[in-house]
Amino acid sequence: MNDGTLHVLAMAGSLRRASFNRGLVRAARDLAMPGIDLEIFDLAPLPLFNEDVRAAGPPDSVRLLKAAVARADALLIATPEYNYSVPGVLKNAIDWASRPPNDTPLPGKPAAIVGASNGGFGTVRSQLHLRQVLQGVGVLCMSRPELMVSQADTKFDADGNLTDDAVRQSLRKVLEGLAAWTRRLARSTSPA
Ligand code: FNR
Repeated sequence: MNDGTLHVLAMAGSLRRASFNRGLVRAARDLAMPGIDLEIFDLAPLPLFNEDVRAAGPPDSVRLLKAAVARADALLIATPEYNYSVPGVLKNAIDWASRPPNDTPLPGKPAAIVGASNGGFGTVRSQLHLRQVLQGVGVLCMSRPELMVSQADTKFDADGNLTDDAVRQSLRKVLEGLAAWTRRLARSTSPA
């Protein structure tokens, strides 16, 4: 943010090719207004968390994740809902990024949560669980605006690209909110 540009790191908790949530972060990248630079981080290369592997020296994919989070001014996380909660893919990434406690880029990082699912509740339950997990690792989640995309099969095409204008507008509002939230936190933590 020193150069005036807000660097947002976006990730989706799905590995599915035509994932709605991956489509959501691609749409966010396309919609990002001037002054926001949005990078998408692919969680697919991350292995399952193993404390022994971490202690021996984390794999490159984990180093890349932690470095990307450290570089970012803010996070945008799109979560599917699996059995009323956060998919293992996303929780696994958070677990990797959170360890060891004296070398994690997560505490104090501003973030926004969004999500899309086929059902009528639009990931509300997984978003609430994700908020709790992120609180545990010190991430500062924006409370509003929220974006819960229900009946996602009617709002994305067969390749997982967002086709719904109302969702696009809501997503833009989330990005605007995240920019304001990040600047507000930066002001409150910068020396007088
Ligand atoms: C689901 N799905 C689902 N949807 C929902 O609204 N609430 C739920 O609890 C669940 N549970 C669930 C469990 C498992 C194991 C799978 C595979 C799926 C449906 C889910 O929302 C749908 O598959 C989305 O398409 C997943 O997101 P992506 O992959 O499109 O981003």
